[in-house]
Amino acid sequence: MAFPIHRPRRLRQTATLRTMVRENFVAPHDLMAPLFVQLGSGVRQPIGTLPGQFRLSPDTAAVEARALWEVGVPAVVLFGIPDHKDAEGTGAYDADGPVPRAVRAIKDALPDMVVICDTCACEYTSHGHCGILDGQTVDNDATLELLGRAAICYAQAGADIIAPSDMMDGRVGAIRRALDSAGFALVPIMSYAAKFAGAFYGPFREAANSTPAFGDRRTYQMDVANRREALREMAQDVEEGADFLIVKPGLFCLDLVRDARERFDLPICVYNVSSEYAMIKAAGQLGWIDEARLIDETLVSFKRAGADLIITYHALEWARRQAG
Ligand code: PBG
Repeated sequence: MAFPIHRPRRLRQTATLRTMVRENFVAPHDLMAPLFVQLGSGVRQPIGTLPGQFRLSPDTAAVEARALWEVGVPAVVLFGIPDHKDAEGTGAYDADGPVPRAVRAIKDALPDMVVICDTCACEYTSHGHCGILDGQTVDNDATLELLGRAAICYAQAGADIIAPSDMMDGRVGAIRRALDSAGFALVPIMSYAAKFAGAFYGPFREAANSTPAFGDRRTYQMDVANRREALREMAQDVEEGADFLIVKPGLFCLDLVRDARERFDLPICVYNVSSEYAMIKAAGQLGWIDEARLIDETLVSFKRAGADLIITYHALEWARRQAG
């Protein structure tokens, strides 16, 4: 019956027709750009594992944010690289730390830019785990207090959105209560709801100097093999008051992006993580792939899977290319 009545190739014959029937598009306003910030001024230090990305000081972070804003990227996600670490990760809520300083610098320069603060202990703990230790394990409930303090600290600096990435149980509720009690009831939480353990974050950990000193993150981040568990994590974060859900990593979790889209009505975000970026950059440098087209196809696949928003290291390069 179908053929020869139905010939799908009819709608693919010309570029104009293909444009008319195209279902998904990426726009600069879909993108959020991660930025690594440290103390100091005038810093713009290339990150070896992430070509095209830099460790920035608050002033140069504001310059980078302006470059993003000028090509239509509305948001940055800040990650801190502190000068000092300790066992309790106290730097995570230091009002003079790199993240609060960068928030202030960016908001001073660009009041309308959305500044999102990744909220986690791993960049601030001497042992590199995402929370406070009790012996060799991360103490969940003790870590919740740290996360609440960090969230308030970033909100006080002017952060627009708090993005907890630690994977402690109950953190969204704890951060919500902390923010509300400090007068920040209107600061949204973008939760890394379904975040998997594994090898995907290696280039990031080089950049942020946050590799765990012993063990791994498998007692708090999820097992890559699990799909239903990811849905339970998302449902729990929705109940606790999350305003956005993030699925992470991205390319390897497109099934979960689709699940999230169908099951929840919140804005769905996907994190196109460091190893996904590094693989494209490395193959591009070797001349083995058409890098620009791979980036285009990567980003639109997130939209096709159902994501509203994409956290990606490609943001500036991609948006600049669209701007011509
Ligand atoms: C902090 C955090 C990590 C990433 C985002 N937030 C590292 C980790 O969980 O080890 C990874 C992002 C990337 O790989 O691009 N917990």
